[in-house]
Amino acid sequence: MKILGIDTSCDETAAAVVANGREVLSNVVASQVEVHQEYGGIVPELASRKHIEAINYIVSRALAEADVTFKDLEAIAVTNRPGLIGALLVGVAAAKSLAYCHNLPLLGINHIEGHIYANFMVYDHLAFPHICLTVSGGHTLLVEVHEGWQYKVLGSTQDDAAGEVYDKVAKYLGLGFPGGKVIDDLAQKGNPTAIKFPRPLRSSGDYQFSFSGIKTSVRYFVEKARRAGVLVEDGQADAMDMSPDKVTIKDIAASFQAAVVDVLVYKSVRAAESTGANAITLTGGVAANSHLRASLKIAAAEIGAEVYYPPMSLCTDNGAMIAGIAYQKYQQGLRDGLSLNAAANGSIVDV
Ligand code: KG4
Ligand code: ZN
Repeated sequence: MKILGIDTSCDETAAAVVANGREVLSNVVASQVEVHQEYGGIVPELASRKHIEAINYIVSRALAEADVTFKDLEAIAVTNRPGLIGALLVGVAAAKSLAYCHNLPLLGINHIEGHIYANFMVYDHLAFPHICLTVSGGHTLLVEVHEGWQYKVLGSTQDDAAGEVYDKVAKYLGLGFPGGKVIDDLAQKGNPTAIKFPRPLRSSGDYQFSFSGIKTSVRYFVEKARRAGVLVEDGQADAMDMSPDKVTIKDIAASFQAAVVDVLVYKSVRAAESTGANAITLTGGVAANSHLRASLKIAAAEIGAEVYYPPMSLCTDNGAMIAGIAYQKYQQGLRDGLSLNAAANGSIVDV
């Protein structure tokens, strides 16, 4: 059973064809990163316009690469929540038109459910319940995932998403957009204990997150170090010729990353421990982070839990995860009418 999955929730125009919820026949993504780069962040209006330009071509390519036509499809699935409303509307309008023209069932999918499902597309033996940490530019969510794709949200961010603070900190450090990968790479050469940035809500006793305090703290630190003339801007300085009062970009990157990852790992592992889950899945763009992957593995091993993450093509926004979870929902009887609408917000539990 082949399903076309479409996602235009943020700054990627994505379409994919997936057979039986797991076999990825195509997974086409048009990134808009270059468009938004010069603004140092995503400009929603530009995102919508770029989706309009790309959507028909991306859908055609997804079908061509999968070597199928609309006649071979069982249904069309589209992300209709949460996300940038103007961006979501493009995907929803396209999916509705295609479903109508080709007389195919339409399914509106929650983007976060897609991210959570991504691991299951690769690891079919994942036990339920398991803990899933979704960390991306727009989301930070800790969820208990139950059989039948039922969820209990344990916690989420009270302010900025984890990826968002990576991007903002990269901006303060003059490292461009998006900043996650650059900071990750620099951090590997820096000292994670050079600066003690705060770990907000680490000891809150619940599973909520807050990252804007770390971001502000880094910002003040950078401004102060620049004013005092102790910041080595290029990040390449050799420790040998550094005076002890100097601070490098790579040390700031490593110390910032240590703070973010420490909180994410601590809460994810506590969640697994208290629910008795023996698997923790990582998903979303920040799941690519080398320090997050490595430290989560070590901390999870201490409680006998395994850590899973999908390949990058399924971690970041894509249509395959939407087609994948749509297959499960289709089996459960989900069908949406042509009145399907987009919504900027949307919890995964009141679906
Ligand atoms: O899932 P994604 O592609 O798009 C959203 O739905 O947001 O995630 C993009 C986010 C960006 O904030 C980017 O900086 C971050 O993922 N990211 C990383 C890494 N690679 C991408 N963050 C930390 N470490 C990385 N290696
Ligand atoms: Zn996403």
